[in-house]
Amino acid sequence: MIAFANVTKRFGEKTVLAGMTLDMADRGITCLLGASGCGKSTALRIAAGLASPDAGDVCLSSGSCGVVFQDTRLLPWLTTEENLFLALPARQRGAQAPARVARALRDVALIPEEVIRLFPRELSGGMAQRAGIARALLRRPRFLMMDEPFASLDAMTRSDLQTMLKTLVEEQGTACLFVTHDMEEAFALAERVVVMRGGCVAAAFERDDFSGWENRERVRDAILTCLGRKKGVWS
Ligand SMILES: Nc1ncnc2c1ncn2[C@@H]1O[C@H](COP(=O)(O)OP(=O)(O)OP(=O)(O)O)[C@@H](O)[C@H]1O
Ligand SMILES: [Mg+2]
Repeated sequence: MIAFANVTKRFGEKTVLAGMTLDMADRGITCLLGASGCGKSTALRIAAGLASPDAGDVCLSSGSCGVVFQDTRLLPWLTTEENLFLALPARQRGAQAPARVARALRDVALIPEEVIRLFPRELSGGMAQRAGIARALLRRPRFLMMDEPFASLDAMTRSDLQTMLKTLVEEQGTACLFVTHDMEEAFALAERVVVMRGGCVAAAFERDDFSGWENRERVRDAILTCLGRKKGVWS
């Protein structure tokens, strides 16, 4: 599990995380929801060990961690297969590596033979995003950190990838922290929705809280109120 206790992060004079306390479930998807600039990516980077807090404690159970960013960060001068190879530790790039890469690509519904020799510029947005997820899943991480990975995709591709992600997380017993500013995406994916405001967790909702139409309407209202937004206005 991942737990933040009173985590503070400053950039110069600016306090971005102000004593954030967060418990993330051991399995399934926790969505971190909040307005632009509220510190979601900063929190995710700290959870992934890519940044350190100025104060407070971050507790992460042992296990590897995969990260997926909004831009796929595939290296443009390498093929899809080479990009995935690079995610393996040097000692694991032997004879078994191509089969592992192919399996990871199949996990995200890509056909290995069709994509391994393509460069990132030759992939569609959805294919590139799938390849980025395959790269993060290659080592079967215990934790998966995803920072608005589907934000630039069309609605249908996005919905396909959401379904795929839910299935993979369930099958592989992964704990996933998924950053989004899209409430409906959070409802579609999450076991737990955590709402951030002012560098803190302002509210948290479990799946039972937003299951069913009426509950969901209530939680929608609560989230919008929590974020100081009028209903229907969201960015
Ligand atoms: N490396 C950095 N140096 C200075 N300021 C930073 C740095 N990283 C983030 N910030 C600032 O911290 C604040 C929160 O940024 P963060 O990227 O965490 O927001 P966010 O919630 O992910 O926003 P968005 O939804 O737009 O991605 C912003 O004001 C940003 O300018
Ligand atoms: Mg961000």
